[in-house]
Amino acid sequence: MDGAQIDAVVAEENGLTVTLPETGPAYFNAWWLRDNCPTSFDPETRERGFDVFHLKAAPRPAEARIEGDALMIRWADEDHVSRYPLAMLQVYAHGARRPDPADLPRRPWFADHYPSITRVSHPVLLEDAQERQRWMEALLVEGIAIVTDMPDTDAALTETAGLLGTIRPSFFGDYFDVRLHIRPTNLAYTSKALELHTDVPAEELAPGIQYLHCRRNSVVGGQNLFLDGTAVANDLRASDPEAFRLLSETEVPFYKEHDHIDMRARQRVIELDHNDEVSGVTISQHLADIFDLPQRLMDQYYPAFVKFGRMLQDDKYLMRFSLAEGECISFDNHRIVHGRAAFSATSGERYLRGTYTDRGELRGLYRAMVSEGRFK
Ligand SMILES: [Fe+2]
Repeated sequence: MDGAQIDAVVAEENGLTVTLPETGPAYFNAWWLRDNCPTSFDPETRERGFDVFHLKAAPRPAEARIEGDALMIRWADEDHVSRYPLAMLQVYAHGARRPDPADLPRRPWFADHYPSITRVSHPVLLEDAQERQRWMEALLVEGIAIVTDMPDTDAALTETAGLLGTIRPSFFGDYFDVRLHIRPTNLAYTSKALELHTDVPAEELAPGIQYLHCRRNSVVGGQNLFLDGTAVANDLRASDPEAFRLLSETEVPFYKEHDHIDMRARQRVIELDHNDEVSGVTISQHLADIFDLPQRLMDQYYPAFVKFGRMLQDDKYLMRFSLAEGECISFDNHRIVHGRAAFSATSGERYLRGTYTDRGELRGLYRAMVSEGRFK
């Protein structure tokens, strides 16, 4: 290519500037173009079959021009012609992230949310894709939803969670039983109040979506407590930006130690997404390790941490209710903070069975359900 303008394509040292119909001139790097030739992708596996590492030299267009609604490139050092739909180039023209249909805006909620929690029925979910979509959207937007009409069986929880992903084990195994244990390994397995927390932050990747299937609940007390951690963190961001900064930038240690395990992981109490928006929180007083930060930093960190911890207990945020037998609450374990009031162990029976799946799998299933994808 001799550097002259050929139609709407201008050669540059390392790539091409292409004039796109929608937004005008846009630069594309030659490596990027060669790597992402539509023929690079195998229609059967839907994976990239081309390996850019195997090119002997930097790719160089010998000829390039717009042909209809595509950019055609004939490459200099190989016998290969690429044709890129201009619509595909448009997506990548300005360095913006590829639009993600699962990136739904989060809607913060407060103490009065209980009557408007999304409710979906177990037998309907099994049959109806629209209903599954409504459930997924509730989990992405509000982080919480109740599944009703659950059969009183172990299989019901497996079926429910299986609709949103693969059962994801934790230190407690594939499933966990929240009821009184003779030798409890966790505060949840006693009748004491269970302070507000997210589950298992001592794991490097704490479980994403949590399911709690209420099988028995006839005790006095033991109300369920749920709050939207993103609502609280957003309020802290507005009222005390420095405290917010400390909690969103500083990693603190969590641990889980028992007879045969010594789990440790560091987490930020406030989690931000790629848009710098609050996407979750991690809080667990019973699994917080001894903070091993510089003691001078503790002068700032502890007041911020305690301020946030107290905000979590504010009635503005706390939704209180009793999960009924046959209900399964599903929620984003990185966003929704939960706890339980103390109950009278002799007043009746209380049994919740729980499990987890991951956030990424939920988003993956949702995208496949609502969007075209690259290969459809
Ligand atoms: Fe929990």
